[in-house]
Amino acid sequence: MGDPVDNDHSPWEDGSYEASPRVVDPRGEDRERQVEAALRPRRLVDFPGQTRVRDQLSLVLEAARRRGSPPDHVLLSGPPGLGKTTLAMIIAAELDQPIRVTSGPAIQHAGDLASILSSLAEGEVLFLDEIHRMSRAAEEMLYLAMEDFRVDIVVGKGPGATAIPLELPPFTVVGATTRSGLLPAPLRDRFGFTGHLDFYETADLVTILRRSAGLLGVEAHTAGIAEIAGRSRGTPRIANRLLRRVRDWAQIHGQSVVDLPAAQEALALFDVDARGLDRLDRAVLDALCRRFGGGPVGVSNLAVAVGEESDTVETVAEPFLVREGLVVRTSRGRVATPAAWAHLGLTPPVGSTAYQAVLPGVVPGDSPGLPGINDIGRLGG
Ligand SMILES: Nc1ncnc2c1ncn2[C@@H]1O[C@H](COP(=O)(O)OP(=O)(O)O)[C@@H](O)[C@H]1O
Ligand SMILES: [Mg+2]
Repeated sequence: MGDPVDNDHSPWEDGSYEASPRVVDPRGEDRERQVEAALRPRRLVDFPGQTRVRDQLSLVLEAARRRGSPPDHVLLSGPPGLGKTTLAMIIAAELDQPIRVTSGPAIQHAGDLASILSSLAEGEVLFLDEIHRMSRAAEEMLYLAMEDFRVDIVVGKGPGATAIPLELPPFTVVGATTRSGLLPAPLRDRFGFTGHLDFYETADLVTILRRSAGLLGVEAHTAGIAEIAGRSRGTPRIANRLLRRVRDWAQIHGQSVVDLPAAQEALALFDVDARGLDRLDRAVLDALCRRFGGGPVGVSNLAVAVGEESDTVETVAEPFLVREGLVVRTSRGRVATPAAWAHLGLTPPVGSTAYQAVLPGVVPGDSPGLPGINDIGRLGG
């Protein structure tokens, strides 16, 4: 584990910068790492949800175990906080192999990768987090290593430099990425197995929270746990974080049990509403509906209205609002869906046609049809 880690000066796992970390941010915060590590399931059977990926992975690993050789390289993709790092650790544990952890941004030069590769033991698992952020030169070295278990070590400089091929023992790369679309096809093709993680059902989050509560020594009622699960945006990392805030609240208020009122009051204090929206999400919706009549309105105008950077609105608030069917992206700007008006307890103004105009065939009051939303989303804007 002595490899370079990627934490620059950013408080966030992915190295990005943001003014105030939000309680519903799906990215992990640096100082959360320890508690997160303590909450990670260690075995596949203890990993709730993602049944398809889990069953497929279980098969791949079991077959490798029986053959007595390392499995194919594994690529895990999906939004932050859904369990990619956890699964990488589980893969190593299931194979009973050590794991070497590094990340794309930590590998600045091909030489960094060469030194890691050349020190791998047979069967070892190499976890490359944020693999889409690796340099080009390192990527190319990685293709070769993954395919032929070989790395060319360059000795000397300039015209006299020579590449000495070095055989590597067979090993397994586990790559993780939030942006599989950014991976060059040749790299993607080197992975024999790709698992795409999706947002969790509330029932799975309940299972995860129960287990976390047990590990944290928190006594919790089912209704309290269910309330937290429902506000966690389908994301275990957020669920665990909200659980810790509710635990804090209960503790301060001298309650030994996390029950429904405790969960509701604590989460209200942290500005996470019944649907998992926080203050910024609601400010965006509110501006969209009240100030701009439901849109369409450009992101920059929305951002000014809520006093935030456009980038924050676009990357932090909007993806969840779009996924929840509250906002649609159109070529002319952002538009509130009927569900957005309903969530704010507002009635769309009479004659408000923005939503119908951009989504022909969708009647206000219907649950927004996802295919339509996706089609419109592709227009950009
Ligand atoms: N299926 C799951 N079961 C239990 N806990 C989970 C699960 N998926 C994620 N977690 C928890 O959520 C947190 C974030 O998971 P992590 O694997 O770091 O996500 P990612 O690497 O995809 O961002 C960890 O504390 C982990 O224990
Ligand atoms: Mg991770």
